[in-house]
Amino acid sequence: MVLLAIESSCDESSAAVLIDGQIRSNVVATQLIHQQYGGVVPELASRAHQQHIVSVVAEALTRAEVTKNDLNVIAFTRGPGLLGALLVGTSFAKSLALGLNIPLVDVHHMQAHVLAHFLQDPHPSFPFLCLTVSGGHTQIVLVRDYLDMEVIGETQDDAVGEAFDKTAKLLNLPYPGGPLIDKYAQTGNPDRFALPDVDTPGLNYSFSGIKTAILYFLRKETAQNPNFIEENLPDICASVQATLIRILLTKLKRAARETGIKEIAIAGGVSANSGLRRELQQTGEKLGWNVYIPNFEYCTDNAAMIGMAGHYKALRGEFCPQTVSPLPRMEW
Ligand code: KG4
Ligand code: ZN
Repeated sequence: MVLLAIESSCDESSAAVLIDGQIRSNVVATQLIHQQYGGVVPELASRAHQQHIVSVVAEALTRAEVTKNDLNVIAFTRGPGLLGALLVGTSFAKSLALGLNIPLVDVHHMQAHVLAHFLQDPHPSFPFLCLTVSGGHTQIVLVRDYLDMEVIGETQDDAVGEAFDKTAKLLNLPYPGGPLIDKYAQTGNPDRFALPDVDTPGLNYSFSGIKTAILYFLRKETAQNPNFIEENLPDICASVQATLIRILLTKLKRAARETGIKEIAIAGGVSANSGLRRELQQTGEKLGWNVYIPNFEYCTDNAAMIGMAGHYKALRGEFCPQTVSPLPRMEW
């Protein structure tokens, strides 16, 4: 099976080729235009996808040493994501599949983040828990099989990636701020500033309280010292990051305890965070978990993971008709 995968849900235009489930190429064009606006501007994302998609697909085919006539299935992200952005990938996938007379597979973006684990070895065995953390989602997923997943905990308000990005904005760092908080945190003292991380019952997350606490904390400190942020950036980043990681891991530990599962994975853009990766490893060693962390390139948005999900759906004959349309709020 020679499969072309296309991802266009947010601000990464990406295409990948998988042959019999093995990755042959994964090309990602990151849209830098959003930096000057402090966040993703949906209309600009859509236009940038239109500009990039032909060259990204062509490059993915070239790197995989195949031509479009070798393809026998096309997978694309149907949702969740930005409607205008999803429309570009969906329309491109549909047109190409129609022109080549080959089947189409629609893919759920968050399921694909989980299945990114099967792009590499070793991979988790079923059942496993996956903490899926991105700019739009924060979920604990119980994964029973490739396509049998259940969200057992999720955020009731902001995603943890948003908490990273909004904090970065308050610190006058450019978008996306998550990776920059990670960078500054590496030289900071995580115990310098105490931020509240009130634990709530159950497996659901909430990040709106901590976001407000960070806002008030910075307001209070900068009222006393206008240079507070510049003078304390590494310690602020380290303290915020440590708090967010603590919140994430508290619920994950509870989920592992309640389900008795010790196969634990993370996925999504925030799983690129070095502090989270380290803490998860250490927690895993203490609690006897087998921990799975994807390579950096498969943490943030990429088409290889869409291809992996497409591969398993195609094997089951789960194709979609040409009348398919994007679903910005696609359900699991
Ligand atoms: O999965 P992703 O690429 O796109 C979505 O589907 O949302 O995740 C993007 C999110 C952004 O919030 C970004 O700031 C965050 O992942 N992120 C990080 C790091 N790298 C990306 N957050 C913290 N530390 C990082 N190293
Ligand atoms: Zn994503």
